[in-house]
Amino acid sequence: MIFDNTIHAFEDARRIARRRLPWMVFDYIDGAAGTEYAERLNRDLLRALWLQPRILKNVQHRNITTPLFGKQAGLPFGIAPMGMCNLSSPKADILLAGLAAKHKIPVGVSTVASTSLERMIELSQGHAWFQLYLSGAMEGSNRLVARAKASGYETLVLTVDVPEVGRRPRELRRGFKMPFRIGPRQFIDFACHPLWSIPQVMMGKPEMANFGGEHGEFDRTESRAAATWDTLAQIRDDWKGNLVVKGVVSVEDAKRLHTAGVDAIQVSSHGGRQLDGAKPAILALRDIRAAVGPDMTLFYDSGIRSGEDIVKAYAMGANFVFLGRPFSFAIAAGGARGLTEMTDLLADEVSITLAQLGLDDINDITSDVLAPNPNI
Ligand SMILES: Cc1cc2nc3c(=O)[nH]c(=O)nc-3n(C[C@H](O)[C@H](O)[C@H](O)COP(=O)(O)O)c2cc1C
Repeated sequence: MIFDNTIHAFEDARRIARRRLPWMVFDYIDGAAGTEYAERLNRDLLRALWLQPRILKNVQHRNITTPLFGKQAGLPFGIAPMGMCNLSSPKADILLAGLAAKHKIPVGVSTVASTSLERMIELSQGHAWFQLYLSGAMEGSNRLVARAKASGYETLVLTVDVPEVGRRPRELRRGFKMPFRIGPRQFIDFACHPLWSIPQVMMGKPEMANFGGEHGEFDRTESRAAATWDTLAQIRDDWKGNLVVKGVVSVEDAKRLHTAGVDAIQVSSHGGRQLDGAKPAILALRDIRAAVGPDMTLFYDSGIRSGEDIVKAYAMGANFVFLGRPFSFAIAAGGARGLTEMTDLLADEVSITLAQLGLDDINDITSDVLAPNPNI
C-alpha cells in the first residue's frame, strides 16, 4: 500500500515520518541515549505485560475521561513536553495546543519550545503546562517561572532527570545542535527532503521561542548539575499552583518527593534519552505506587505506543499518562490530519481494550487487569 498514508498504528506514523523528515531531525526525535537499550526496554516491557481478558459483561457504554487536578480530562492521555517541536513541522506547537484545547488534555510546553509559553497557554485555552529546566544560575529559571505565573499557567512541571544532557550518538553523528545550525551536511540532508524543507524555509528556521532579545539566551548543553532538594524547596515555596516533578524512577526519591509537598510525580526515564542503563520506567511505576500508596498522584511517560500500553500504565499505578514521540511523528507524517488520526486511534484502542477487559470505565482499572507473567 505505497500510497496509503493513513495512520492506523504508531508504526505507520514513524514509518511515514522517517520518509519525510531530514535524517538529522528524524534521529533527534527517534534517538535515545547510548545504545538505546533503555528506550527499547521501556517499549518491550510494556508489550510484555499481559492483560487478562474477561467475558460477558455489559460494556456497551464506555468512559475514557478521567479527573486531573480537579478538572475532567477528555482523554486519559496528554502530550509530553518536547523541545523544538516545530522541527517536525512548522505548525506542530499550534496543532498540539489546538488538540489540548479540543480534548481538554494537557500539552507540555518545554523550556526550549519553538512557540513562546505565553502564546501556548492562549492557544491551548489554558490547557498548557509549563515544563521547566533549571538553569545553572537560578535567575533564568526564576524569570521563566515568573512569566508562567503572569501568563496564567496553573501547572509547572519541573524536569529533574537532566543534570547533564544525555549523550545521544545519533544526534551527535548528524551534527544536531540547538540553536539550530545549518552546515553543508545538513544542507544536503534538507535538499533531499523537500516535503519538509520547503514549508520550513517559508516559515523561517525553528527557534527556541522562550529566549532571545530581552529574555536572554539558552544553552542546551549547560550543566544543571547544581540543582538540589533545596532548589526544589525554593520552587515549591514560590509556585502556588500544581507542581509536578518529572523524571523519577527511584522509590527513595519518590518517597522524599511525597513528603516535599509536590502535587504529582511523573515517573519517566525521558523516553530513554538520558541514561542507557536506567531502570525501566514502567517497573519503577509499579514500585513507586507500592511505596507511596494509593493517594499520591502519579503520572507516567516513556515508551507508550498504543491504547493497550496506556491501559497497562494505568494498571501499573498511573493516574494519567503522557506520550512524546507518537505525537511528533504523527504531525511529521500527516500534519493536522496525522495528529487527529493518532489521537483518535489511541482513544479508540483504549476504549476497545476496556471492552476486552470487561470494564466500562478507565477509572476502574486496577492491577487486577494484568495477568501474572512469570517472565516479569
Ligand atoms: C524530541 C523530544 C524532545 C524532548 N524534549 C523534552 C523537553 O524539552 N523537556 C522534557 O522534560 N522532556 C523532553 N522530552 C521527553 C518527553 O517529555 C517524554 O519524557 C518522552 O518523550 C516520553 O517518551 P516517548 O517519546 O517514548 O513517549 C523530549 C522527548 C523528545 C522525543
